[in-house]
Amino acid sequence: KKTLSSVSIQGKRILMRVDFNVPLDASKNITDDKRIVESLPSIRKVLDDGGRLILMSHLGRPKGKVNADFSLAPVAKRLSELIDTPVTMAKDSIGTEVMQQVLAMQDGEVILLENLRFHPEEEANDPDFAKELASLGEIYVNDAFGTAHRAHASTEGITHYVQSAVAGFLIERELLYLGKALQDPERPFVAILGGSKISGKIDVLENLFKKVDTVLIGGAMVFTFFKAQGYEVGNSLVEESKIELALEILAEAKRKGIKLLLPEDVIVAPAISADAEFRTELISAIPEGMIGVDIGPKTAELYSREILSARTVLWNGPMGVFEIDNFASGTMAVAKALADATAKGAITIVGGGDSASAIAKAGLAKEITHISTGGGASLEFLEGKELPGIAALND
Ligand code: 3PG
Repeated sequence: KKTLSSVSIQGKRILMRVDFNVPLDASKNITDDKRIVESLPSIRKVLDDGGRLILMSHLGRPKGKVNADFSLAPVAKRLSELIDTPVTMAKDSIGTEVMQQVLAMQDGEVILLENLRFHPEEEANDPDFAKELASLGEIYVNDAFGTAHRAHASTEGITHYVQSAVAGFLIERELLYLGKALQDPERPFVAILGGSKISGKIDVLENLFKKVDTVLIGGAMVFTFFKAQGYEVGNSLVEESKIELALEILAEAKRKGIKLLLPEDVIVAPAISADAEFRTELISAIPEGMIGVDIGPKTAELYSREILSARTVLWNGPMGVFEIDNFASGTMAVAKALADATAKGAITIVGGGDSASAIAKAGLAKEITHISTGGGASLEFLEGKELPGIAALND
């Protein structure tokens, strides 16, 4: 794909789609600005080269209606602090006033358009809306990796109405790391998959099976595997309709010579709550009425050893209910093992979403080679799907 490095920016209106869909607390403070920070290389490039930067994004799911709770204003403020430059917050993303505003811009100025999803046409990928957005800039840059799996007006539709549509540096970096892991990983390649349901991860698993040497499984989806193997799992989450599939996955791993590991021990509790009592049990001894909430210490050690022996590590999905401290040990151990593996020279990649939050909770974000800014987008990428927002860019 063509990137921002290949276009001449000086004096031009650069219309850049970013993913500033960041978490806000009740007082509208940004609780994690990673997505803004990761957009800075592209933003700085445009400003350093004397471009006029028009940024656009969605925030949350306002369902096509104007709603002050979903305004991008807090993001404009944060961005302005990060780049030490004023960021003008536009009242809307289209319309005459916005058009006049962008036409009056000087080199080096920055405008952030208001939430694209205040217009239902954004998600509907409406051609007229896409065309109107396109008319705001002279060069279109997409750096919204987190939204690249959505064929929306600002990610896909717009590319039909611009002269050049190029990838920003964040998308370039995401494709470099996630793409290399899937295509040409240094070996041994160890993948850690967690999460609550096999159904949510089956396509990732199938796709990774083409490349991976070892797969470590955690999260509640292990209980469907255990049930399939005939174990009692108490009140743990089981996807009854996926029991057959779990057996097929195990058989396929065996056929392909992939080392697939399941936990040997788990943390169990009578309820998923912060004050519930908890203890470690072997997976062959999960008591009736108990719920599996994390991998156990023996498993955490075993998985850490596997991670430390790898040259490439890819992690997607927590090992347990890490939002509750008592059930976070397994996930934190995996986070630590990734950081240690990085220090030993391995390429470590975290597939965004919950695992990225877990790394942040562990305070280890700086010690990982690449943490994806995508949740759904990285999942779809790891499933081997084409992302419409990237497919639409110029080659
Ligand atoms: C995300 O946070 O995954 C992206 O910003 C996409 O948001 P969406 O799931 O509301 O389309």
